Amino acid sequence: MQRKTPKLYLAPMEGLGNYSFRNALALIGGFDEATREFISVPKGAHVKSLAKKFSFEDTDPIPQAAQVMGSDPDTLAAMTEELIARGAKRVELNVGCPSNTVTGNGSGSSLLQNPEHLHKILSKMVKVSSVPLTAKLRSGYLDTTLFEENLLAAESAGISHLTLHPRTKLEGYKGFANLDLIKKAKEILSIPLIGNGDIKSREDAEYMLAYTGCDGLMVGRGAVINPWIFHEIKGNAHIEDFDRTLTFLERFYENVCLYAPKNQTGQMKGLFSFLFQRNDALLVKRKDMLRNREKDPRAFFEYCIDALRACQLAKL
Ligand SMILES: Cc1cc2nc3c(=O)[nH]c(=O)nc-3n(C[C@H](O)[C@H](O)[C@H](O)COP(=O)(O)O)c2cc1C
Repeated sequence: MQRKTPKLYLAPMEGLGNYSFRNALALIGGFDEATREFISVPKGAHVKSLAKKFSFEDTDPIPQAAQVMGSDPDTLAAMTEELIARGAKRVELNVGCPSNTVTGNGSGSSLLQNPEHLHKILSKMVKVSSVPLTAKLRSGYLDTTLFEENLLAAESAGISHLTLHPRTKLEGYKGFANLDLIKKAKEILSIPLIGNGDIKSREDAEYMLAYTGCDGLMVGRGAVINPWIFHEIKGNAHIEDFDRTLTFLERFYENVCLYAPKNQTGQMKGLFSFLFQRNDALLVKRKDMLRNREKDPRAFFEYCIDALRACQLAKL
């Protein structure tokens, strides 16, 4: 029987979760909303051209939000308007990207060092926005000293919800997401809080919800390892079938073929390096798959599908 679950979000994942993956995953579905990976918006950028990177129908019929990354309030506000004009039903500010290139120009997680500036950016974006304006934060830059200030800076700017990935920029992806911080954020904030980080199973999802009291969940890498995870979280554990997994992968392959040939195998290896963590039998084959030097993208794809079939992905 289907249980009532809070809203489930597919996480933005630059590269790994790009159009090829997102669009294909919508065929399996189970998530209520997706967020496109960030669009970088430098100060003074020509926002009309930049906004063309966003198309709201990537995950049709599941809504897809746009995410922006930058540090200049006026340019980000102008970009928000352009994205809404292009059909974005929600616009989000990235306050978490840990990459040094990004933080070097004051964007992404770098904004966590200056709650006042974060507030200023979000206030300007909220002011021009006719759709929900949200923010996705890490827990801090080098440490969590400004944790509460940052949450309150974002909330008081008028955002509709906040997503928290409870690792600092310094932690990158090391260790585990600190659920105590999601719990603390829930005590601090009045707006809805979406918890994110290391959800790889229905049990992880239930634990995060129960332990932190958060209002919704966002899953990223867990959905690449297990494309059925959203259905499982919703309590539809038996809905999985291998034919639909193949349909998802075929769509993924078609989408990958839209990219330059030299990037096709790399994109596939990105997805399969996660999918091959699904069970022990696949894990054994993962190293060989990553070392495979097959030049023909279709031949490489078939090789991966054969491995999945042999390891009975559907019977897990
Ligand atoms: C390859 C990769 C790319 C990512 N790109 C983005 C991004 O564009 N915007 C963003 O807010 N977070 C990005 N993230 C962070 C994820 O959205 C998410 O917060 C993080 O992976 C933790 O969730 P998970 O454990 O469910 O994967 C990225 C993560 C990965 C692994």
